[in-house]
Amino acid sequence: MDAPRKRSIQISLPATGEDEWQAVREPLLSGWLTQGPKVAEFERRFAQRHGVPHALATTSCTTALHLILAGLGVGPGDEVIVPAFSWIATANVVVYCGATPVFADVRRDTYNVDPQDVARRITPRTKAVVAVHLFGLCADMDALRDVLPKGVHLIEDAACAAGASWNGVAAGGLGDAAAFSFHPRKSITTGEGGMVTTRDASLAQTMDQMRNHGASISEEQRHLGPRPYLLPEFNLLGYNYRMTDLQGAVGLVQLQKLDTYIAGRDHMARRYEEAFAGTPWLRMPRRPTGGSHAWQAFVTYMEPEQAPLARNDLMEQLQARGIATRPGTHAIHMLGYYRDRFGLAVDDYPGARDCDRNTLAIPLHNRMSADDIEYVIDSVKDIASCAASSG
Ligand SMILES: Cc1ncc(COP(=O)(O)O)c(C=O)c1O
Repeated sequence: MDAPRKRSIQISLPATGEDEWQAVREPLLSGWLTQGPKVAEFERRFAQRHGVPHALATTSCTTALHLILAGLGVGPGDEVIVPAFSWIATANVVVYCGATPVFADVRRDTYNVDPQDVARRITPRTKAVVAVHLFGLCADMDALRDVLPKGVHLIEDAACAAGASWNGVAAGGLGDAAAFSFHPRKSITTGEGGMVTTRDASLAQTMDQMRNHGASISEEQRHLGPRPYLLPEFNLLGYNYRMTDLQGAVGLVQLQKLDTYIAGRDHMARRYEEAFAGTPWLRMPRRPTGGSHAWQAFVTYMEPEQAPLARNDLMEQLQARGIATRPGTHAIHMLGYYRDRFGLAVDDYPGARDCDRNTLAIPLHNRMSADDIEYVIDSVKDIASCAASSG
């Protein structure tokens, strides 16, 4: 008898292939490789899909977030409130600007920032709040707006939230500006890449200049316009945060698949929810009541008092069966740089601390089969029941 095939189920796998391969031919053959017509078209369609007038492609979500803060004039002396449980880039961009990141705690049920804790941390120096739509679930934007004084900017870190919505409004149009990621762990990818969206025309104009070294006119205006002697003026400090047209071409193809990908992930998420309905120690991720989840990841919460084994033991045993898992993300205040520089202690943010210790992302991506999902479910249940009977 044949030995059973060794399984290898990744935590995430980008769904790219022949369409994306074909898409890069045109820019490669035309020779227009840096930001150009493909990026412009990707931006136009991304803005349309997310219901906003302006979208600007960047090299990553990190640079998109930096661009937003720089465009808003965040600098030394300013404070920016960020969730204590997120990818480290959410806080790093505040430091890039010379401003101070002020952490706010997160809720254990949504993993998103707690508006009441944000309210407690507002000072006269607070210039902005970055609300992260973690794993594809939008933060409670209405409650956040309610607690923010006028003049404090509300920014969306929508790295995980392309295609998500909150009370009928798409992510990207819920705050003053938003930043998306197209890293391969996100539901649509351009390899690396990001996008800024905003409804504010003047901020969009500033950010457009800043992502291209601060130049007052674009490369297209220079190279394709009627005045070959044109050189840009540089009146503000800029960066090179331009996306390439190769990435723009891939992004266009991926964007067309976004809704199908989310629907596929939602279907798999429902199967997990159904299968683990009778497993109270493994709490399922929260679904939004008046919106849609983008399912960048399927992040469960292991109740430490009730679980038959420790989270890391479960992760190791799943790994031995060929199933990759990950902790949800980091409690940033527990990471060396922030802990040491700002004198933070683990218990300062108990919600973030517990999410760091107890969250467990199980595989969810568009290259998983129904059989893969069943294998994950059976493996989790089998390992838990062995642990319960031996413990
Ligand atoms: C919440 C959050 N913010 C920002 C980022 C940074 O995205 P990028 O890798 O595109 O810079 C990530 C990436 O994982 C993220 O999850």
